[in-house]
Amino acid sequence: MNSTLRLAAAISLASLLPLSASAAESKGSVEVVHWWTSGGEKAAVDVLKAQVEKDGFTWKDGAVAGGGGATAMTVLKSRAVAGNPPGVAQIKGPDIQEWASTGLLDTEVLKDVAKEEKWDALLDKKISDTVKYDGDYVAVPVNIHRINWLWINPEVFKKAGIDKAPTTLDEFYAAADKLRAAGFIPLAHGGQPWQDSTVFESVVLAVMGPEGYKKAMVDLDEKALTGPEMVKALTELKKVATYMDADGKGQDWNLEAAKVINGKAGMQIMGDWAKSEWTLANKTAGKDYQCVPFPGTDKAFLYNIDSLVVFKQKDKGTAAGQQDIARKVLGEDFQKVFSINKGSIPVRNDMLADMGKYGFDACAQTSAKDFLADAKTGGLQPSMAHNMATTLAVQGAFFDVVTNYINDPKADPADAAKKLSAAVKAAK
Ligand code: GAL
Repeated sequence: MNSTLRLAAAISLASLLPLSASAAESKGSVEVVHWWTSGGEKAAVDVLKAQVEKDGFTWKDGAVAGGGGATAMTVLKSRAVAGNPPGVAQIKGPDIQEWASTGLLDTEVLKDVAKEEKWDALLDKKISDTVKYDGDYVAVPVNIHRINWLWINPEVFKKAGIDKAPTTLDEFYAAADKLRAAGFIPLAHGGQPWQDSTVFESVVLAVMGPEGYKKAMVDLDEKALTGPEMVKALTELKKVATYMDADGKGQDWNLEAAKVINGKAGMQIMGDWAKSEWTLANKTAGKDYQCVPFPGTDKAFLYNIDSLVVFKQKDKGTAAGQQDIARKVLGEDFQKVFSINKGSIPVRNDMLADMGKYGFDACAQTSAKDFLADAKTGGLQPSMAHNMATTLAVQGAFFDVVTNYINDPKADPADAAKKLSAAVKAAK
């Protein structure tokens, strides 16, 4: 073959091969907007990406940095207004109903998958109701996180002469004093509003109990928001805040988690996505770190359920990819591997009841056991700070008052409680 012929043959082969190969490779593309951007969270979401790509779909990653998701929500809103929402997005709790009522979510695309995969039987009604609109699934629930956890570095505790994890607020303060005296940061904490409110709601749960928490944070009862128990909770919050990392203003949660992992700080109050950072650092629960319920909240569980909603798309080719993601997400394999990486527990009833079978660690086993037990006693309550209890407008009112209160050296708890109630009322 002369050189011209060889080139022509190569061109014709090249034009056949890659094109036909790539056409066969992608069955369609779906963009997924989420805020899982810390190292550990990324490892978890990569599990889904790999499974969806293995099925032949193209995953367009729409990651928006910013713990708690406030920035992701702003991006989503502007994209929706511009008529360009992604195929799939991380949206949670009552907010799903608000989005669905705009008509932007797809009520058809998940129908067959939900039926075929028997979602109604796999999920607790409380969970399936959250992700349905007018009886149709508009989202797939991904996992369950618990908020009221305290993360401890036992090595640091030992160096500071503390021999056990605190179980009451007084023991917490005593441990924090010892940590400080030994030169450690007592409480790793990033001073972003959602992190401030994560601590606030754990303290409210400890002081007011699950019933009081429900009245104040879910029912938004004026008496509960301004009463003596809330004033006490705010007083305790101010004391907890005195132990927070002095360099933590505006800091991301995972950078603060790293301070506990690296032995600079003793404790962090954070939901169990914090575990994803410990796992990524090859640390083992019960050995290298301890997870205990936030002091005074061992009989209660503030829950946070991540879910992925489906938006209506102009390009009808996206439907197959949306369905594939939904099918994968509630599959046994994904439920196990994702939660092990993410620090959460599965949403499927059958898996929650048999956690040992899947190789979950001690923290996850405790979490699942408490989730099931607390559901029977009223101890299971939705997290305000993580969009499960209220609309985003009411949540914003809580965030503003709580963060201002923590940062104002002259703030008065009774006055802050009144402000809280007024701000919530205006946002309702
Ligand atoms: C929560 C979310 C978690 C985790 C966390 C930190 O609101 O449910 O999955 O991502 O924020 O960003």
